[in-house]
Formats: sequence, C-alpha cells, structure tokens
Amino acid sequence: MKAYLTREYIFSASHRLHADGLSDEQNSSVYGKCNNPHGHGHNYSLEVTVSGQVSPETGMVCNLVDLDEAVQHTVLQRFDHRNLNMLADFAALVPTTENLTEAIYNILKQSFHSAHLEKVRIEETSKNSFEYAGGETPCR
Ligand code: NI
Repeated sequence: MKAYLTREYIFSASHRLHADGLSDEQNSSVYGKCNNPHGHGHNYSLEVTVSGQVSPETGMVCNLVDLDEAVQHTVLQRFDHRNLNMLADFAALVPTTENLTEAIYNILKQSFHSAHLEKVRIEETSKNSFEYAGGETPCR
C-alpha cells in the first residue's frame, strides 16, 4: 500500500525582492513594497510531502525522526533566521518564495532518501502559498 505523509515545519527569514537585471524603477514597479531596501520578514510554513510503501513491520511510510533530522540539518539550519538575500543559494536568484520552494525541494531530493520526495509547499502568508514537485520549468 502506497501512502503519503506530509509534515509541517515553521521557520522565519527575511528577504528583499530585487532583480539585478532591472532598473530601480522597474524593480519598484514589479515588486512594490517587497522591493523596500530594508527588506521584510516572513514566518514561513513549510510542508514536505513524501510517499512510499507502508512497511508491514512498522506500519509507516518512513520514520518521522529521519525526516525531521533531514529537514532540520539541511533546510532549517540553512534558512531559519537568515536574510535570504545574503545566502549563496540566492546569489544569482531573486529570493522569491517560488525560488525558495524549488531550492528546498532540490536540497531535500539530495539529502533525504528514506522515502520518495513528492512535493514541497510553502505558505508565505495566509493568502500566498507555493508548491514545487520537481520536473521541468519551461517558463524560465
Ligand atoms: Ni516577502
């Protein structure tokens, strides 16, 4: 039996949305108040969904301890209470939550192997959420 497991994690980070390839006026027009030079913070809700066969022995898709450790060591320690603009991950990428979602998916794809990584979803605010499930991104 295949089952899906979704676990939520909370972290806080700040960012400023600013594209180096755009003029100051264009940045202001595209990103609005998110282009404020001082940046702003979010309490991000990160949902990680994995899937796999339910073990007949343990009754679980994977051990939550393993998932928690992977997320803690590879994602939360990297992004929690950080200024995303200062991180190498976003040296050449605008730290939008779209790009953050893809970065976290790629990190977990490499670091977590106890179950199949299906999807990463981030709620930036109560009105905005973003998902990435791998695959091509033809619009980039
Ligand atoms: Ni923001």
